[in-house]
Amino acid sequence: MAGRIPQKFLDDLLDRVDIVEVIDRRVKLRKTGKNYSARCPFHEEKTPSFSVNPDKQFYYCFGCGAGGNALGFVMDYENLDFPQAVATLAGSLGLEVPREETRGGAAQAQREDSNKALYTLLEQAARFYQQQLRSHPEAHRAVSYLKQRGLTGRIARDFDLGFAPPGWDNLLQALGQDEHQRKLLLESGMLVQNDAGRTYDRFRDRVVFPIRDQRGRVVAFGGRVLGDDKPKYLNSPETPVFSKGRELYGLYQARQANRKLERALVVEGYMDVIALAQHGISNATATLGTATSQTHLERLYRLTPEVVFCFDGDAAGRKAAVRALEATLPCMEDGRQARFLFLDEGEDPDTLVRKLGEDRFRELVTGATPLETFLFDAAGDGLDTSTLDGRARLSKLALPYIRQLPEGVFRQLMFRALAERTGLTVAELMHLEAPPPPPPAPEPPAEWEQAPDSGQPTPKQRAASDRARAGFSNLAQAAIALLLHQPDMSTRVDPEPLATLEGDDVALLRDLLALLQRRPDSNTAMLLGHWYGTPEGELLGRLAGQERLIPREGIEQQFSDTLAALAQLPQRSQLSAQVDKLKVTNYADMSDAEKQKLRELLKQKQSMDEARNKRKP
Ligand code: UTP
Ligand code: MN
Repeated sequence: MAGRIPQKFLDDLLDRVDIVEVIDRRVKLRKTGKNYSARCPFHEEKTPSFSVNPDKQFYYCFGCGAGGNALGFVMDYENLDFPQAVATLAGSLGLEVPREETRGGAAQAQREDSNKALYTLLEQAARFYQQQLRSHPEAHRAVSYLKQRGLTGRIARDFDLGFAPPGWDNLLQALGQDEHQRKLLLESGMLVQNDAGRTYDRFRDRVVFPIRDQRGRVVAFGGRVLGDDKPKYLNSPETPVFSKGRELYGLYQARQANRKLERALVVEGYMDVIALAQHGISNATATLGTATSQTHLERLYRLTPEVVFCFDGDAAGRKAAVRALEATLPCMEDGRQARFLFLDEGEDPDTLVRKLGEDRFRELVTGATPLETFLFDAAGDGLDTSTLDGRARLSKLALPYIRQLPEGVFRQLMFRALAERTGLTVAELMHLEAPPPPPPAPEPPAEWEQAPDSGQPTPKQRAASDRARAGFSNLAQAAIALLLHQPDMSTRVDPEPLATLEGDDVALLRDLLALLQRRPDSNTAMLLGHWYGTPEGELLGRLAGQERLIPREGIEQQFSDTLAALAQLPQRSQLSAQVDKLKVTNYADMSDAEKQKLRELLKQKQSMDEARNKRKP
């Protein structure tokens, strides 16, 4: 096997090629301002939303979310794998691609290699199970189960359905030839180890559903019993290649079936996705026994402008819908839509599409409740909005939702809609948004006063910075966007306060900072290159494309502000939750103890804000 291409060479290569030339040779570009644009080669469009940034050496399409550096472009445009794309670009500069002799060294490289082995193994497992569905002596039980659920052989093939035969070690026997393979089987979650150290197949006597990631690689499995045994479904555990908070079952197949996804459905189960596809509705995806996360939604909205959630009509379904609503709000940039479809009790998309057929099911989807309606329903649940008090409460309960929307026309429309429903003016609502009447607190100490010339951002800059932040779904993403815009800032910040924070985006921010520590000269294109082809890479590409949200001045200040705010997030959200709880009550209706408590909380919050404002970069 050829050795790895040294990272140093890749960085040099990206430094030398000009992405404008690389792309222009393949897709004619037109200069528009400081960038270049064209109609996107990766999706059909009438007006150009594909843009190439010569300064930062990356491209981005506002229409379909495709983005990356010159290497990524060549890979996607010419359908090449990574080494081939490197060879192509190197060739255009007359360079020979060097290879590393040995494989040892970078942990990253090792991780990539072992992931590759996992993908290969999981693909083999999928093929093994498919084979068993065709040839195992017991396979007729699985086949008749699938038939009885109305599936054709064609759809079983489209989704690569398989059969894990009865017995403890079918897969182990088939794929675990040596110690290395057995270790991989365990790591991939296909084997389970008991307390005594014995290993056996996780999936036994089940129909299995391979779960593919966006690029079509098998990353996990779900398995359903053929009868009524419990548990009904088993899923692969979290592994280095599978995280159920990110993956959506059926997304890969939906993209295969639709050149452009006009809309995506989010349903609850594997069988719902498959039954819908069987009936010609090929845009359904399912979360894998978890609530819909913001990561899921960001991923979907990168591919489609509209998401329709399907829920059971019962109490549990409604609760799930409210959680989905909460995850959706921060993603609702202008141009995106979400709807909520509540099915009758006892129905799921699988049973319903069989009963109604494709056309009537589609009608239900088209007529599903829009987010704006559901938001007010959810907030106004149980309130009598014919009374003044009910309407005041509605505004208190709806505001926290509306506030989560990113800055934009939709957010403003929602404020207006709330105003209409409550009989309050938008100005009054904005006022409600502000903290309650200031408590009679002692004068703030003198050092709290902001010196006019302290090098602090002016109110105008600060407003711009808040605006920019609001366009990103969280602080970590805002920080990443700023860092991608100006990577050399990394050398002047202290990453330490981020060390203990949780969350995927923060982890990515930490990784970026760590990489920049090691390679301080990396530019945006190189950073994108490091994560190319991973879910993180997609996010980075999208964030790099959000240039219009980056302020012109004070970027560095904003970056360190954002990091500081991020570090304080755990404490702040705790405080805010306490304040919000109290704010549901009118200030005038509060008991003295509550007023006192609120005052203290606000004071804490204020001093936290002040401390943040004072912090020097
Ligand atoms: P449901 O119980 O609604 O499944 O669970 P379903 O798809 O309607 O099942 P069928 O129609 O009887 O086959 C929905 C999803 O919740 C997860 C699975 O991802 C399933 O698709 N689940 C459910 C589990 O992970 N484990 C279980 O035991 C049950
Ligand atoms: Mn079902």
